[in-house]
This record gives sequence, C-alpha cells and structure tokens, in this order.
Amino acid sequence: MKLDVLFSPIQADELFFTGKTTIVIDVLRASSTIITALANGAKEVVPVGTIEFAVKVSGGIFGGQTLLGGERNTKKIEGFALGNSPTEYSKEIVSGKSIVFYSTNGSRAIVKAKYSANLFVCSFNNLNAVAKHLKQLNEDVIILCSGNNNFFSLEDSVCAGMLINELVNVDKNFTLTDSSKSALTLFKSYGKNILKLLSESDHGELLITNGFESDLKDCAELNSTEVIPHYSANVLKVLK
Ligand code: MLT
Repeated sequence: MKLDVLFSPIQADELFFTGKTTIVIDVLRASSTIITALANGAKEVVPVGTIEFAVKVSGGIFGGQTLLGGERNTKKIEGFALGNSPTEYSKEIVSGKSIVFYSTNGSRAIVKAKYSANLFVCSFNNLNAVAKHLKQLNEDVIILCSGNNNFFSLEDSVCAGMLINELVNVDKNFTLTDSSKSALTLFKSYGKNILKLLSESDHGELLITNGFESDLKDCAELNSTEVIPHYSANVLKVLK
C-alpha cells in the first residue's frame, strides 16, 4: 500500500481524487472543529466551498435544524451562528443539528476531494482512530493537507507525518513517496511538543494575534476522540 501526501490542495484538481482513499487534514482549525462538532452529537457537517453557497444551503433542504459555522480570515462570518473555534461546537449547541460549514482552507479542501471513494477528516484529536481504520481498509492513501491559502502549512504536514508514523510502525507493507517521507521527517523533528509546534506555526501565530490562543490547546489534544468524520452524499457524518 502506498502512502502519499499533498502539501497543498493546489497540487491536484478534483478529478485526481476520483476513486481514491483521501484523508483531509486542517489542524488549525477546520478538521479539529468538524471532529469536535460530530463528537458532540451534530447530526452532520455540510462542508461548502463558498460563503454564498453556505447561505443558500442553510436556507434550503436542512430546515430549522441548521446552523451556519466557519470563518473568513479566522473570524466568524457575519450572519453565521458559529465561528471556527472547537469550543463553540458544544453538545448544548450542536447536538442533533446539521452544520453548514465554510472555512478558508479546510472545507474547501474537503469539497475538492469529494470524488474520493473514501474520504475522512483527521486532526491530532482523532489520529489514532484514523490510523486504525486505514489499517483495516488496506488501500493506498492520499493525505491532503489543507495548507494555508494554497501554501504549505507546518502543522498539517506534521500531523500527516504522525499519521504515517502510526501506520508504518505497525505495518511494514506501506510504501512511502518522497512527500510522505518528508512529512515523516517533519513529524520526527517537530512532533514531540504539538502545542509548541502550533504556537510557532504561521497560522498559529495569526490565531494568537487574533485572540484564539485557547483554540491551539484544543487542536493540540492528541487522540481525545475516536470519532472519524466520513464524507458521503455531500455531508460528513460519524463513521460507523
Ligand atoms: C481554515 O480552514 O482555513 C482554517 O480552519 C482557518 C481557521 O483557523 O479558522
């Protein structure tokens, strides 16, 4: 089985993902927030590629049980109920709800990979569960780092490297591409202190400047849940 990493969604077009098993990572903060929402009982998360589409979708098929969530330039979008801080997605707020979710990098990366045969969302929060599931699936894997406005992002790449490390430690049958070897090396250099890594990353620094420092702690929590968001029929639900 081959493990490959895309360090930015710009490296591939939609059709590249057709039939593939894809793991989307956006540690800060979309994948951590989506995982938290589903772990706290959200019925589903509907990732969308534009704010306009988010508004359109939320006004339509999902009726009164819908919440709009996400961010633009790290901040809550006008008219949206929720921003992109994992703590906002508490049980009280999200239980039973459909959440239409837009974010600058994460939701757009998920939408881009929509033609995958298997599409899952990963962060440090559910890394072990994702690794376990991939071992069972036994397929070639593309790890798609959501990146930072199409540029490289250290935290997503280190998370990809940690996932690869988990997989190769138990199964020597995985083969690594140059990019997955690079992600693994980044994990070995930066993966010992995840909170420090997040605080020193470009996006982490921006989040701290914008008042979201406490989100970094939530996003740094390793294996706090077994929940794996699974994309099917345009929505993310907990993989059963
Ligand atoms: C994104 O998807 O672009 C990020 O989650 C941005 C953020 O930290 O809110």
